[in-house]
Amino acid sequence: MAAGQGKRMRSDIPKVLHKVCGREIIGYVLCLALSLRPKQVIVVLGRGREQIMPWIRRGYPDKKVTFVTQHRLLGTADAIARARPRIKGRVSDVLVLYGDQPLLRKATLRQLLRLHYRQSAACTLFSAQMPSPQGYGRIIRDEQKGVSCIREDKDLNGKEKGINEVNAGSCIFRRKDLFAVLDKIRPNNKKGEYYLTDAISLLRLQGKKIACQRTDCYEEALGVNSRADLAEAENVLRKRIVHGLMRQGVTISGPETTFIDWDVRVGRDSVIMPFVYIGRGARIGRNCRIGPFCHIRGGSVIKDNAQIGSFAEINRSIVGEKTRIKHFSYLGDARLGKEVNIGAGTVTANFDGRNKNKTCIKDKAFIGSDTVLVAPLKVGRGAVTGAGCVITKNNDVPDNGVVWGVPARQKTKKG
Ligand code: UD1
Ligand code: CA
Repeated sequence: MAAGQGKRMRSDIPKVLHKVCGREIIGYVLCLALSLRPKQVIVVLGRGREQIMPWIRRGYPDKKVTFVTQHRLLGTADAIARARPRIKGRVSDVLVLYGDQPLLRKATLRQLLRLHYRQSAACTLFSAQMPSPQGYGRIIRDEQKGVSCIREDKDLNGKEKGINEVNAGSCIFRRKDLFAVLDKIRPNNKKGEYYLTDAISLLRLQGKKIACQRTDCYEEALGVNSRADLAEAENVLRKRIVHGLMRQGVTISGPETTFIDWDVRVGRDSVIMPFVYIGRGARIGRNCRIGPFCHIRGGSVIKDNAQIGSFAEINRSIVGEKTRIKHFSYLGDARLGKEVNIGAGTVTANFDGRNKNKTCIKDKAFIGSDTVLVAPLKVGRGAVTGAGCVITKNNDVPDNGVVWGVPARQKTKKG
């Protein structure tokens, strides 16, 4: 379900296209759905449909994924009613995922599914103990501790407000039971919406079995409704990413100050110092030393044994093995060979106001401090640039060439 407008975000971008650790929220949810190998995935869209649908089509061209439109946002039960005619005949159970929950994990969902099938329940839901449950639907239990209903935050009476057990969102229904009660849901609540969560009490009235999986990790229940939630989700996910890398043999000296996006790979024995930001899709090899204080932007590749030091920014670039970029540098659209030395303050001037141009620096080149490399430009193998020189565009430096001055002059290295 991703039809809601996300009012509380106060944004022109649809809520589910906001990013957490460099990836759109809906990307996490879709990926999770597909990882369970379902017969089909139906995405309910409404507000922002023109933006979300093409985004999903591009990123998830899987034929299993189809769309339905909920023109009027009448609530989560109505969203499911829109999808109903699309559900294929042989589907026996319907898993409902909320489009704004990027933190839910596959292992947790698997537990939910297992419980559902083991207990042959009509509906199995997730609950979580939330330290601050405001805004969430609460689980109301009967004397036997069974789930009797879910009450949405706005409809709680004084006493119920103290309940910390919340509806974590995702739930799975036996198809025929869900559709036996869906039409009976009425918008008798403060918001005047058709709540899917009302299916629980209706199923109970029919004597059906409701199972409930309690999660110990309340973070997974976090739904992104506001910018504060977005920041919280980012915090949780960042921690997961950083700890995942540490488990794979990466040293991260300050996990709280290390910002690594989704889909970044770092090789064994690499060391990441504090205050480093690594963008989505970056690849870092083994035994590299990164930071402190540097920015490796998405799509960059840092090969084994390379070193990227303080205040360096690497953008859409490839850095070869054993190459060192130790202080104050910007390398954009550059390709660096092996064992290159980049002196402090080196800058690639890659943008001429219209195009991004490429710089190529071959193996063992020695770039003196404060060199400006105006792209497009090639610097040959073993070439040397003097401190403070400015090499203007297309004035390629040959292998073993030496250049110095402003604009740079050239001679060939002796010996
Ligand atoms: C919902 C649950 C609440 C739960 C919480 C967990 C209901 C009624 N309430 O509340 O019990 O504790 O999530 O995060 O289900 N949507 C549609 N169409 C609609 C309305 C919503 O597709 O007409 C989608 C939204 O895009 C969103 C999701 O459903 O992805 C949940 O809607 P939201 O308004 O965020 O529900 P909550 O108030 O968070
Ligand atoms: Ca929500």
